[in-house]
Amino acid sequence: MINFSLNGLNAQVEKGTTILEAAKFYGFPIPTLCFMEGLSPYGACRLCVVEIGEEPRTKLVSSCTYPVEEGMKVRTASTRVIRARKMVLELLLASCPQSKVIQDLASAHHIMQQRFKQEHEDCILCGLCVRMCKEQMMAKAIGFSGRGEKRKLGTPFNIKSEVCRLCGGCIYVCPACQLRCTYTDPEKAICGGCANLSPPCVEKEKFDDMMCYMEPCVACEIKKE
Ligand code: SF4
Ligand code: SF4
Ligand code: SF4
Ligand code: FES
Repeated sequence: MINFSLNGLNAQVEKGTTILEAAKFYGFPIPTLCFMEGLSPYGACRLCVVEIGEEPRTKLVSSCTYPVEEGMKVRTASTRVIRARKMVLELLLASCPQSKVIQDLASAHHIMQQRFKQEHEDCILCGLCVRMCKEQMMAKAIGFSGRGEKRKLGTPFNIKSEVCRLCGGCIYVCPACQLRCTYTDPEKAICGGCANLSPPCVEKEKFDDMMCYMEPCVACEIKKE
């Protein structure tokens, strides 16, 4: 077992536990965006930053990818952490203001406006769809290409994927999508809404064959009524 300090509390976790997992276990909330249980951590958004080390040599790390170390001192909500998280959220809001997920996160952090140039990106490069496709759907139909500003999501050689299973999983996890599935609240379900979006590897007209990721799919259930 590894002993460490979490917000001043003496804590103990198994070797290999990430700071995020440990904080969750001990009841300290840390916001995340590119992390999803069931998918491998990716460390792309930096929203989950925490402060580690002792003054004056502390540093910010992504808690979803950083493993707990013996004797480590972790602060999940220090002034520096909150400032960094707010900055990340402002940048995310600037790049993708239409995202309900980002709006909700910003609101929870009392951010009402952002100071950067407004864009309307349809992808924030969080990698959730790529991991969903590879790790849960076993398809590997999509991935990233390019570096820096040229980094983008797509299929190999930008041609329609032959291995895509039309499952809709990538759409379901995408935080940049405005039309979130509201399966848990059928009254407000935007069923069929996802069919108006072009996922990276599926052409619109092929949506007729689409198998909904949800089981049962609300769209199909409503059609039956
Ligand atoms: S719809 Fe295609 S690209 Fe999206 S998760 Fe399923 S297999 Fe992957
Ligand atoms: S398409 Fe959506 S899920 Fe995929 S990387 Fe971009 S923002 Fe993330
Ligand atoms: S059709 Fe399926 S994936 Fe699309 S919003 Fe409805 S339940 Fe979700
Ligand atoms: S949730 Fe940890 S970097 Fe995105």
